[in-house]
Amino acid sequence: MKTQSTNRRSFIRSSLLGVAGATSLPFFSIAKEAVNALPSVSAFADDESYWEAIKKQFQFDEGLTYLNHASLGSSPHTVRKATQAYMETLEKFPSKYMWGGWEEEKEMVRSKVAELFSVSPEEIALNHNTSEGMNLIARSFDLQPGDEIILANHEHASGSIPWEFWQETKGVKIVRPELPLIPESKDEVVAVYQQAITSRTKIISICHVVNTNGMILPVKEVSEMAHEKGILVAVDGAQGAGMFKTNLADLGCDFYSASAHKWLFAPKEVGVLYASKSKQHLLKPLMVARGHKNETIRRLETYNTRSLPEVLGLGSAIDFINEVTMERIHNRTYELKSYLREKLEGNDKFRLKAPANDDLSAAIQSVEVVGKKVGEVKQQLYEEFGIDCRPMSKFGLNGLRISMSIYITKSDIDYLVSSLESIAG
Ligand SMILES: Cc1ncc(COP(=O)(O)O)c(C=O)c1O
Repeated sequence: MKTQSTNRRSFIRSSLLGVAGATSLPFFSIAKEAVNALPSVSAFADDESYWEAIKKQFQFDEGLTYLNHASLGSSPHTVRKATQAYMETLEKFPSKYMWGGWEEEKEMVRSKVAELFSVSPEEIALNHNTSEGMNLIARSFDLQPGDEIILANHEHASGSIPWEFWQETKGVKIVRPELPLIPESKDEVVAVYQQAITSRTKIISICHVVNTNGMILPVKEVSEMAHEKGILVAVDGAQGAGMFKTNLADLGCDFYSASAHKWLFAPKEVGVLYASKSKQHLLKPLMVARGHKNETIRRLETYNTRSLPEVLGLGSAIDFINEVTMERIHNRTYELKSYLREKLEGNDKFRLKAPANDDLSAAIQSVEVVGKKVGEVKQQLYEEFGIDCRPMSKFGLNGLRISMSIYITKSDIDYLVSSLESIAG
């Protein structure tokens, strides 16, 4: 029979196996098992059956059709299961996993995020959300009275409040040009930014995808134009990251702040901050704790005690994305967009209020039911049909914001359209 001391010795030995010993359980096995359980596209007779099977990975309330992914995403079964397992592991030896025991795993998550966005892991900080990243960026600059920052009118509060709070109080001018609601081309949008630039412009802060009607802003073109004038570009990527293929190196912005709990399917309260190698030195941590003197991007994510299961869950979420493939997600996004638009176009009971052009809109569309107030339509849609989406009345939209993640099937869209028909009367 083992004594307490032999047990203790073997326990210490297994702990001394260190990260490698710890990783075989549970990180790799759980993540691998989860991914192996995913449906394979080759097993289905047609694409739509494959997407029906992907939908089963998500668990929504009975009777709910969730078209509100842009507000908050849902994690598939594989991610929930893995995150739960990390939580249980943490609870079995809290101090070990909180301080160092998961270092290697955390770095793997950073690498997976970096690979997904085609940048270096040394350019990725793992934080909590877009709002935090935008605060960190806006807080970092020692701007002078009269310096200018451009924030177009469709910026989300989380992308504009940080600039107002950290910079406007010092006499920095926030310039707010108006974007067209339904632009015809990227050039039209670039021109809005170009015309707002003066000799005092220091930074352009721009959404990748606006949350109001889902229009995609031409970040690459705006970055090229801004950089020629020595202006920095910070991007609010809350609605972009994971919706379609994004190569941040090619996009060319200086900073990109995103929430993994939307289009990246990660557990809640996990975010990603990209800071390009050449401009990273300009950023200061929002809070400082042990590690803040680290010379790498890790100095921007020092929280001391923080919940790591969700951060590791982001790794599982990227495994999920990679298994489905970003290419397939990207294509499906556009397929759903076209399917919805084809159903509504030409029907004078409805007005589509997002750009038609694929360069300018993707999985978020805006639909007005002519003659009805959007708040009432939203309410009726939920109460009578169990459909959840976000009403948007700003900028004269009066539109339902429909977000179509990969768990939305064509039959969900048919159901949405017949429900809207019934409401329109
Ligand atoms: C464009 C945009 N930016 C920022 C945010 C804020 O995201 P979070 O609360 O995850 O920081 C949102 C949330 O909906 C958003 O749509």
